[in-house]
Amino acid sequence: MNFEIELFEKYNIPTPRYTSYPPANFFKTAEPNLDVKKIITDSNIQQPQNISIYIHIPFCAQLCLYCGCNTHITHNRETMKNYVDTLVKEIELLAKYLDKNRKVSQIHWGGGTPNYLPIEDIERIMTALNNNFGFISSPEIAMECHPAHLTKTYVDQLVQMGFNRLSFGVQDFSDKVLETVNREKPLLPIEEIVSYIQSYPDISLNLDFIYGLPYQSLSSYETTIKKALALHPDRLAVFSYAHVPWIKKQQKSLEKYGLPTAEEKLKLFKTAYELLSKNNYQIIGLDHFALPEDELSIALRNKKLHRNFQGYCTLETTGQVYALGVSGISQMENAYLQNTKDLKIYTDKINKGEFAVEKYYIPNENEKIIRQIIEEIMCNLEVDIYEIAQQYNKKTDEIYQITQVDKEALKTYEKEEFIRCKKDFYQLTPKGQFFMRIIAAAFDPQMKNNSKTFSKAL
Ligand SMILES: C[S@@+](CC[C@H](N)C(=O)[O-])C[C@H]1O[C@@H](n2cnc3c(N)ncnc32)[C@H](O)[C@@H]1O
Ligand code: SF4
Repeated sequence: MNFEIELFEKYNIPTPRYTSYPPANFFKTAEPNLDVKKIITDSNIQQPQNISIYIHIPFCAQLCLYCGCNTHITHNRETMKNYVDTLVKEIELLAKYLDKNRKVSQIHWGGGTPNYLPIEDIERIMTALNNNFGFISSPEIAMECHPAHLTKTYVDQLVQMGFNRLSFGVQDFSDKVLETVNREKPLLPIEEIVSYIQSYPDISLNLDFIYGLPYQSLSSYETTIKKALALHPDRLAVFSYAHVPWIKKQQKSLEKYGLPTAEEKLKLFKTAYELLSKNNYQIIGLDHFALPEDELSIALRNKKLHRNFQGYCTLETTGQVYALGVSGISQMENAYLQNTKDLKIYTDKINKGEFAVEKYYIPNENEKIIRQIIEEIMCNLEVDIYEIAQQYNKKTDEIYQITQVDKEALKTYEKEEFIRCKKDFYQLTPKGQFFMRIIAAAFDPQMKNNSKTFSKAL
């Protein structure tokens, strides 16, 4: 793949990340009479039948200045214990409305830093899940971990509880970069804790990195990625730093160190991409990489890749997502529900036996069609509008009308060799994969006239 800087600059326009359709900033404020119980009960007869659970643990010990996640900095164990009490109540509340025959196929713990919780708290939540839900025979149980709070004993205990996917935020191996962004140091050398995890044959390991931070140079980043390769993780995520200081005020303080330009960022990504590709890692979506035998790579080859707020997954394991905890977003076939981000409101509501939903969106039939088209592009790198039309019992022209497709943009992308078009079949080229967000946006009628702000596409 030839990285043409001018092309990336030309198409580096603010575009949604499309982790949902419509994107989360289109969600509406929940009216007091919103019938959350009915929305959840109705999801029992929708697809997929499996249940995916997302658990949000917002706590961190120290704020990383680049952080774009929903976090709450605390050292107060009482605050955490109360939160876990509330989460257990929320699990019991949710279970009342879900069909007992439906099985959990996936649990994802995100944050914040879930492993900042004492292991007894993790156990309490897992016990509540086990007591309230049935599981498929080998569910995927994943946790995002910060290496500053991870001991070998903690890993052992997670494995005993059934965790089989661990993800570490490494971000960078340069001390200078990590100090500048106020990131806590790992408790054990990353090499040591990684090789400990790898002594368990069935645990899949992902490492997260970011590019676009102050003091990242091409040579320092090359060193970082080479160190990552030496660890041979199953997966890596190489995220473009999303600088959104109008939402995350603390990010502003990074500007004084000088942030890499779009061109420098692209070169950092190119360094990572080339090293990872040379070493056999398959790019998944825009920023994930997986070994060829990893199930994400296999799903990509079989066009069975899927995506939700927690990242890429396979159609086999994913269910409708039910999110627990502050800010969590549930993704059902017919609705999105987002919990309040406010700890106090969350606790008060759940303790009263009410759901703590603050935002929601009920996609209409047309939006579901658009969602499917965008997901096909973002996951499987191709979409057949004729097939979509057949599936919804419509004519292809009706689908083009619903999406208000930007045919001019598609012609331009064809000329730029981002896509190949054969009648109603659109396939992204290897070059076009890097422009998947803007290609997807050509099928998004909301992009034609909206005033919302998104991070840049690259
Ligand atoms: C919840 S954190 C992972 C667990 C743990 N809190 C940690 O930092 O190691 C999720 C990941 O999001 C990524 N991330 C956070 N803020 C970001 C931003 N502004 N732009 C891009 N990626 C970001 C980081 O790579 C981070 O590892
Ligand atoms: S990057 Fe992770 S550890 Fe740092 S503040 Fe964000 S969620 Fe917390």
